[in-house]
Amino acid sequence: RKPPSRKGSMADLPKDLLAEIKSLEEAFTIDTAKLKAITKHFVSELEKGLSVEGGSIPMNPTWVMDFPDGHETGTYLALDMGGTNLRVCEITLTNNKSEFDIVQSKYRMPEELKTGDSDELWEYIADCLQQFVETQQSEKPTQGKIPLGFTFSYPATQNYIDEGILQRWTKGFDIDGVEGQNVVPMLEAALQRRGVPIVVSALINDTTGTLIASAYTDPKMKIGCIFGTGCNAAYMENCGSIPKLAHMNLPADMPMAINCEWGAFDNEHKILPRTKYDIIIDKESPRPGQQAFEKCIAGLYLGEIFRLIMVDLHDNKDVHIFEGQDIKALRKPYTLDASFLSAIEDDPFENLQETSDLFKDKLHLSCTRPELELIRRAAELIGTRAARLSACGVAAICTKKNLQPCHVGADGSVFNKYPHFKARGAQALREILDWPAKSNSAAEDPIEVLAAEDGSGVGAALIAALTHKRFSKGNI
Ligand code: GLC
Repeated sequence: RKPPSRKGSMADLPKDLLAEIKSLEEAFTIDTAKLKAITKHFVSELEKGLSVEGGSIPMNPTWVMDFPDGHETGTYLALDMGGTNLRVCEITLTNNKSEFDIVQSKYRMPEELKTGDSDELWEYIADCLQQFVETQQSEKPTQGKIPLGFTFSYPATQNYIDEGILQRWTKGFDIDGVEGQNVVPMLEAALQRRGVPIVVSALINDTTGTLIASAYTDPKMKIGCIFGTGCNAAYMENCGSIPKLAHMNLPADMPMAINCEWGAFDNEHKILPRTKYDIIIDKESPRPGQQAFEKCIAGLYLGEIFRLIMVDLHDNKDVHIFEGQDIKALRKPYTLDASFLSAIEDDPFENLQETSDLFKDKLHLSCTRPELELIRRAAELIGTRAARLSACGVAAICTKKNLQPCHVGADGSVFNKYPHFKARGAQALREILDWPAKSNSAAEDPIEVLAAEDGSGVGAALIAALTHKRFSKGNI
C-alpha cells in the first residue's frame, strides 16, 4: 500500500486548528527514545509476571506444551468466543502435512449479552453449538462426547488445559457471576441441559491458538499476536524460566505457551504517555484501572479516542469546528468503531470525499476542508500511536527470549484491515531494535510480523489434537 498522498499544505489552515493539530501531535507522537524506554520496561514487566510475586501483566501458563509437527490428524470442534463474533468450526487435520479442511458458522454476539446475565451468555452459546452440531457437523461420533477446543479470549487462570478461571472481563464485557469462576463447567452445564454431547477438552486463548496455528504452517513463527477488538500476545517459555510454576517441579527445558495478557501492561501508569482522552476512556470503562496498554491500541477503543477528541475540540470555545451544528450524534459513546478511522485514513487526501460523506451520513455533520484535514490528522495520530506501541510489546518478547530472527504471526481486524498498521509497526520495530536501513524493499527485517493462520479455529483444533496426543502418552 502506498503512503497517503498529500497535496496542499496544512500551513493553509486557520490558526486555531493548526494549534490544535500541533498539540495533538505532541500528545500522541512517541519518538524512538520513548519507544525504547517503553520496551525496556516491558521486558522487566514480562519477567515480573512470571515471578512468584507477579506483576501487572498476568503471564498465564496455558498448558499448551508443544508445537505441532505438522502430522496431527483427526476431526475437532472449535468454538471461538471473541469480542465481536461467535464462531463454531469443525476442522479436519488431514494426512497432508500442514493441511486442513474447515466447515464453520458465524453468529453475531448480541451487544446486550456482553453486559447481561451469565446464564443468558451460556444458553446463547450452547444454542449456537447445538444448531451447528445438528445442521453442519459432518463427522458425528456414534458414541461418547465430542471433544471441543474452546477459544475463550479473556485472561484466565489455568491449572489444567481444560480449565479457565476468569480473572477479569476485558474488551467491554461486564457479565456478573463469571469472574473468579471456572467457565468450562458453566458451558458444559448449558450443553447438558440441551442434551448436546460435547465435552470441553481444551480452553484456549486466541493468541495461543494463533501461535500454534502459525507455527503449524511456518516453523519460524515464535509469537502469536492479536490486534483486534483487544490486543495481546503468546509465546513459548521454558518451564525453568517460570518461577511461579517452580513448585510443580516440571523439567526446566519443558516448553509452556504463555498467554501474556499484555493488554494489562502499565496499569500502574509508570511509562506510557497518557492523553486526557486515554484517562476518560479508562474512567468510563466497566473496568477502570485495567488494560492500560490495550486501551491505547485495540480496535474497541480507537474510534472512541477519536470521538472524544472531536467532542473536546467542539466544546473548546477557542476552537471553531462544526460551528453552529448539532453534535448530538457525536456525543454518543462508542458510536465510532475502528473501521470509521480506517476509512478516513484510506481516503485520498486530495478531496477527502469519503470522510466528508461519513461525517454526513453517520454524524449528520458537514465539514469544511480545514476540518477534514484536522480529522484526517487526528486519525493518523491515533492509528500511528497504536501501531508503534504494539511494536514495543513484540520487541519486548523478542528481546526477552532472544528471538531474532523470527516471524510473528498476527491476526485481528486492526492488523488485517487498518491502513498502514503493519508498515508503521515495522518502522517502529526498526527504530527500537536499531536495525540498519534495508538495502532493498524486498529484504526481510530480522523480525517480520506476518498474517497468521486462523488461531481460534485451526489453532484450537491443533491444541485439541496435541492435548489428545499428550494425554494418550500419559504425560502431564
Ligand atoms: C483481550 C483479552 C485477551 C485476548 C485479547 C485479544 O486482551 O484479555 O485474552 O487475547 O483481548 O482478543
